[in-house]
Amino acid sequence: MPDTSPAPETAPLLAEFRALLGPLGVLEAPADIAPHLQDWRGLYQGQAMAVLRPASTEEVSACVTLCARHGIAIIPQGGNTSMVGGATPEARPSAPGGQVVLSLMRMNRVREVDTADMTMTVEAGLVLARAQQVAAEHGTLFPLSLGAEGTAMIGGLLSTNAGGNTTVRYGNARELMLGLEVVLPDGSVIHGLRRLPKDNTGYALRHLFVGAEGTLGIITAAVLRLFPAARETATALCAVPSEDAALALFRRFRAADEGAVRAFEYMSGIGMGLVTATIEGAVIPLQAPAEHYVLVDLSASREGAGLRHLMEGVLEAALEAGEVTDAALAESEAQRAAIWRLREEHPEAQKRAGASVKNDVSVPVSAVPELIRRASAACRALIPGSRPVPFGHMGDGNIHMNLAQPEDWSAADFLARSHDIMDAVNAVVRDLGGSFSAEHGIGRLKTDMMAEWRGGAELDAMRRIKAALDPQGIMNPGKLLPDA
Ligand code: FAD
Ligand code: MLT
Ligand code: ZN
Repeated sequence: MPDTSPAPETAPLLAEFRALLGPLGVLEAPADIAPHLQDWRGLYQGQAMAVLRPASTEEVSACVTLCARHGIAIIPQGGNTSMVGGATPEARPSAPGGQVVLSLMRMNRVREVDTADMTMTVEAGLVLARAQQVAAEHGTLFPLSLGAEGTAMIGGLLSTNAGGNTTVRYGNARELMLGLEVVLPDGSVIHGLRRLPKDNTGYALRHLFVGAEGTLGIITAAVLRLFPAARETATALCAVPSEDAALALFRRFRAADEGAVRAFEYMSGIGMGLVTATIEGAVIPLQAPAEHYVLVDLSASREGAGLRHLMEGVLEAALEAGEVTDAALAESEAQRAAIWRLREEHPEAQKRAGASVKNDVSVPVSAVPELIRRASAACRALIPGSRPVPFGHMGDGNIHMNLAQPEDWSAADFLARSHDIMDAVNAVVRDLGGSFSAEHGIGRLKTDMMAEWRGGAELDAMRRIKAALDPQGIMNPGKLLPDA
């Protein structure tokens, strides 16, 4: 482990932070701060003089004011589940005053649930699974859902504009947010916790911080939209003969009842093989292994919506048309969870199976089959023996075009080719009119792609916004924007 003990000159600063936040609010011991200095994928290792854990917006503001005064960089951190190294401090701080991680973990209160306006006002450190649970306790639904929901926090989810499994029906995190409270890089606070679906009052500043990945300020609280709870669900795992058949099945469901599709996820045979090989108790409930799978999840807020009937009718027609070769319908909540587990364990299974290169990309939904075919072929041609593991959110065009290392390569040799692999996939994505960053964000991983994909006036405008709000450059340096 690198030496993370504070340099002697940081002692007075740490004393100031302790005076502001109390003993629970400042972590300094190397063992305590170590989990905050590495990303989930284990790609990046940073350092920090301390982890600050403010418990209120006022405390966040006081910390930021102090950091601004001393030129200390701030790395906002939620659940630290970023896939792109977004919440990991730099290995060598670029800010003159050094750097701190600012964790929102103690700001985890639900300030208000309003079932008349169907909103929930929560603090940034609330874990997503808890937000879902609180919504359910009030007879409502907070629909954002992803594999990291037991750890990822509302502030991090908004700062990355997270997508996940339900974008096809409810949109991304941005669409689920009505108002924000934000501490700006000079310590001032935007009190924007309004719950208004219509609020055209100049620049929509709240949207500037969604997807900003902590480079413009710190989200401390948000007003989230709630929806009617699901009263009926139907879930199926299907084996399909090709990527085109998967798309055809999606179209069938949309044509039958667009509003009923809550999630439509694609998985490859290789990915499912990794899950069943590495995850205890993971079993595919179908007759035989297939090359392509689809998870269809339907839900309705109305009892008697007939989703089971809808599911069976669409699948029967698809079986007849040869678009589905086998299907298993969940008969209980336990079976539904078991089917979802096969999908949600893909990231963990990939981690256990060795090194992987992640390509979080999106294309128009109609181009998903071509993306999977062409990008897989490009990866195999570049790295013979590598295993393409495409999976994800087919219903919104976001496929994780991930690549697992060849079994006879070392992880280091494979990861050394990361950028070649990403370039090969991105060439296909560009050709299909897609994006090199669908839902995970830019973080540190993709800053060097920004000039090519978002160069010219777009990147220039981003830089000017950054300079206007954060002239000292203390908010999450080295992330999102490439070096000038
Ligand atoms: P962190 O990782 O702590 O931070 C993410 C970024 O936001 C960093 O740039 C950080 O500086 C900034 N930040 C954090 N909190 C704040 C704040 N309060 N104010 C300002 N900036 C802040 N993502 C998806 O979109 N869809 C998925 O389906 C999905 N599945 C995943 C599955 C697994 C197993 C894992 C490990 C990750 C997955 N992710 C997915 C990625 C990750 O969970 C999301 O990016 C999530 O939004 C990060 O939330 P977090 O609280 O962990 O944020
Ligand atoms: C997921 O959808 O499971 C993650 O976003 C994908 C990944 O691990 O690449
Ligand atoms: Zn995803």
